[in-house]
Amino acid sequence: METLTPLFTLRGVGVSLGGRRILDGIDLDIPKGRATFVMGRSGAGKTTLLRVLNRLNECFPGSETCGDVRLHLERGVVRPYAGELSLPELRRLVGMVFQHPNVLPMSIGKNIAMPLTTVHGFGRDEAMDAVRMALEEAQLWDEVRDRLDTDARTLSGGQQQRLCLARTLAMRPEVLLLDEPASSLDFMSAKGIEELLESLRGRYTLVVVSHGLEFAARLADDIVVLRDGRVHNRVRDISENRAAWLDGLETLF
Ligand SMILES: Nc1ncnc2c1ncn2[C@@H]1O[C@H](COP(=O)(O)OP(=O)(O)O)[C@@H](O)[C@H]1O
Ligand SMILES: [Mg+2]
Repeated sequence: METLTPLFTLRGVGVSLGGRRILDGIDLDIPKGRATFVMGRSGAGKTTLLRVLNRLNECFPGSETCGDVRLHLERGVVRPYAGELSLPELRRLVGMVFQHPNVLPMSIGKNIAMPLTTVHGFGRDEAMDAVRMALEEAQLWDEVRDRLDTDARTLSGGQQQRLCLARTLAMRPEVLLLDEPASSLDFMSAKGIEELLESLRGRYTLVVVSHGLEFAARLADDIVVLRDGRVHNRVRDISENRAAWLDGLETLF
C-alpha cells in the first residue's frame, strides 16, 4: 500500500469534559487530500474528536485534552496544543461545518465577507471576489447572486448549509470538518450537500461525521469507527472496492 502523507497525526489523545473521560487512547492518522469518515453510534465521541482537531473542546469550561496532536503543514509540523499555531490561524486552516447551519444574522454576502475583512484584513474588492468564488464552489452562486444583500436567515436549510460551507471555503482551509452536515436537512437538500461534498473530494482533506452508510461507501477513502470514546475499527482505502463495502460497512460497528 502506498504511504500517504498525513495532515493530522494523533497519538494517545484523550479528552475529558465535565469531569468525564469522553475520548481515550486515540491513535489516528488523517491523510492529506482524502476523505476520512468518522462513524459510530450517538454518543461515541465523533463530534468531540472533530473538536480536538480545531481545539473547540476548549470552549467548554474544565475540558482537558491530553496526548500528542500534530498538524503537518507545508512549512513544517506544528503542534496546535503546544502553542505552535495561533488559535485564529488554526481555525482558518481547519474549517468546520456543523450539524445545524449557523448563519450569522446578517446578509448573505456579509456572512462570507465579514470574517474575511474583520479577521483576515481583506479589502472590499478582494472580499467580494472571495465571496463569489466561495459561493460558486459551494454551488450557491446562481441561487443568490441577485440577493446578496438579503438576510441569510431567509434562505432554506439546504441553502444555509451551503452558505456555511462557502464561508468556510472562503478562508482557504487545509481541511474541512463536517459534522453530520446533511442530517438536519430534508431529503433533497441532503442529497445536494452530499453531491457538493463529492465535488470537493480530492481538492480538500475532508473529515466527515455521517450516519449514511451509502454516502460513506460512495465518498469515503478511509473509515474510522468510534465506540465508547475509542477507535473500534479502522479501514483504509475502501475506494479499492466500493461496491463490496456498501454491504460490508455495517459489520464494522
Ligand atoms: N460539553 C460537554 N460536556 C460534557 N459532556 C459532553 C459534552 N459534549 C459531549 N459530551 C458527552 O460526550 C459524549 C460524546 O459526545 P459526542 O462527541 O457529541 O458524541 P457523538 O458526536 O458521537 O454523538 C456523550 O456522552 C456526550 O454526552
Ligand atoms: Mg455528534
